[in-house]
Amino acid sequence: MEIVIESSAEKATDVVVRLVSSVIRKKPNAVLGLATGATVLLFYRKLVEMKLDWSKITAFNLDEYVGLPPRHPHSFHRFMWENLFRHVNIRKKNVHIPDGLAADIPKSCERYERKIVAAGGIDLQLLGIGTGGHIGFNEPTSSLASRTRIKTLTPRTRKDNAPFFGAPAQVPHHCITMGIGTILDARHCVLLAFGKKKARAVAQAVEGPVSALVPASALQLHPRVTVLLDTQAASRLKLKRYYRWVSDHKPAGTDSA
Ligand code: GLP
Repeated sequence: MEIVIESSAEKATDVVVRLVSSVIRKKPNAVLGLATGATVLLFYRKLVEMKLDWSKITAFNLDEYVGLPPRHPHSFHRFMWENLFRHVNIRKKNVHIPDGLAADIPKSCERYERKIVAAGGIDLQLLGIGTGGHIGFNEPTSSLASRTRIKTLTPRTRKDNAPFFGAPAQVPHHCITMGIGTILDARHCVLLAFGKKKARAVAQAVEGPVSALVPASALQLHPRVTVLLDTQAASRLKLKRYYRWVSDHKPAGTDSA
C-alpha cells in the first residue's frame, strides 16, 4: 500500500484528481470504478474543472440503495449524475450503477459482474471508507471473496448516512454493492479518507489484521493500493512518520504499493 498523508482534505483531493486525470489522458477508454459520499464531492468538482474527454470512458459505481428509483434525490444514481456525469461528455450507455429497483436482484448482480468483465475490468477503483471500515457497502463480516450482491446496512451506516436523507428512519435498510472480491479485481484501488471520524477505520484497515470485521483491510491483499489521507484521518496510524518519509523520498516514476 502507498499511504499518502496531506495536510488537508483539499490537498489530498488534488493528488487524486491528478492521478485520475492522468489515467483518463493516458487511456482514453479507461474503465473507472466510482464511489459516492461526502468524501468524494470535492474530487468530482475538481475533476469536472479539468475538462477531460470522457467520450470513451466507462464507469461502474460501487453501490446503490435497494428500493430507490434513479431519480430519487438520495439515490446514488442521482448523486453521480448531479455531481459528475451531467458535467462531462460521458455516454449514458457507458454509465453503470447497480439497479436498486431490480425485480430479480441476484440476476441483476450477476449481470453487473459480467458487464465489468466485458468492459475489460476496472482500471482504477475509487473508494471511500465507512466509519465501521466498509468499502462500497461491504459491511463488517462481508466475505473477502464476495461479488456484487444485496447487503443489509448496519445501524451505524444508516446513522452515518442519515444527514443525506434528513431522518435516520428514511435511510433504506438494504443496498446492492460490488463485493470485496469485485473491488480487489480492479487494477488499482485508490482509497480516500478525511477527518478524525475516519481515523480508527483507517488505522484498522491499513495496519490491523486482514479481517472480515474491517472489510477495507482486504485491500492489504491487493498489489496496488494508494491511500490518500488528511492529517486527521491519519492520526491513529502507528507508522505515519514512515509513510511521510516514504512520500518525501519517493524515487521518480515509482509507486510504493
Ligand atoms: C458510503 C458509501 C461508500 C462511501 C462511504 C463513506 O455509505 N457506500 O462507498 O465511501 O460510505 O462515505 P462518506 O464519504 O460520506 O463518509
